[in-house]
Amino acid sequence: MTADRKPIRVIAHRGASEDAPEHSLAAYRKAIEDGADGLECDVRLTADGHLVCVHDRRVNRTSNGRGAVSAMELAQLAELDFGSWKAPADRAETPDSADPERTTVLTLERLLRLVADAGRPVDLAIETKHPTRWAGQVEERLVRLLDHHPLPGEVRIMSFSARSLRRVHLAAPGVPTVFLMQFLLPRHRSGRLPPGNGIAGPGIRILRRDPEYVARAHRAGHEVHVWTVDDEPDVELCAQLGVDAVITNRPRTVRDQLARLG
Ligand code: G3P
Ligand code: CA
Repeated sequence: MTADRKPIRVIAHRGASEDAPEHSLAAYRKAIEDGADGLECDVRLTADGHLVCVHDRRVNRTSNGRGAVSAMELAQLAELDFGSWKAPADRAETPDSADPERTTVLTLERLLRLVADAGRPVDLAIETKHPTRWAGQVEERLVRLLDHHPLPGEVRIMSFSARSLRRVHLAAPGVPTVFLMQFLLPRHRSGRLPPGNGIAGPGIRILRRDPEYVARAHRAGHEVHVWTVDDEPDVELCAQLGVDAVITNRPRTVRDQLARLG
């Protein structure tokens, strides 16, 4: 890190999800304890209009249930176990499998309250997942919920869907947005982003192939938030390139490495 560069922010991907079940309250508490600068979560809308933190379209991988989140009501999701599939990071330690903070579906509203009570400003990077049968209702609910829960840290909305981010710009022009990219399309190679987006969100593979992308995005006036940065060589690459934030499943380990790299 050079003298004029801000420290790289460490954002916990689905919470400290190496240590606790992804998107569980326990994973987010751990990330805050581990000193993460921010938390990342994915949101989906239930059939009865609640935003819940679930990555996949279906609940099959991360719970003991089956079916699409968008077709289930919150009460149905609340009956499922979203934690027992995850083995503890330290196998000597037996987690209390009945611990609701590891196993209960997490609503975005509950996560907002956790962040509000963190005792320090913690950023929140909320990703809208598309396609979904609820399309624009996701952004409508999200913006309304954020209006009711002002937080001391920065709240950003992220998406691979430019259309989702356009809806956010219309509904809440002041909310910063991150345009996520799995591949670098020719029209984005120059570092430019779809209008209205201030932050580029490339996957780490983009930077491994094209490290100069960071400088181009910076020249175009955009911050660069990279996902998912878990391994030492990738953290080192991000530090060398001067990215603005790394999104990682292992916030403590990555913070420690960045501190060593100075
Ligand atoms: O932080 C962005 C990253 O989470 C996007 O990929 O599949 O983990 O949601 P995914
Ligand atoms: Ca995500």
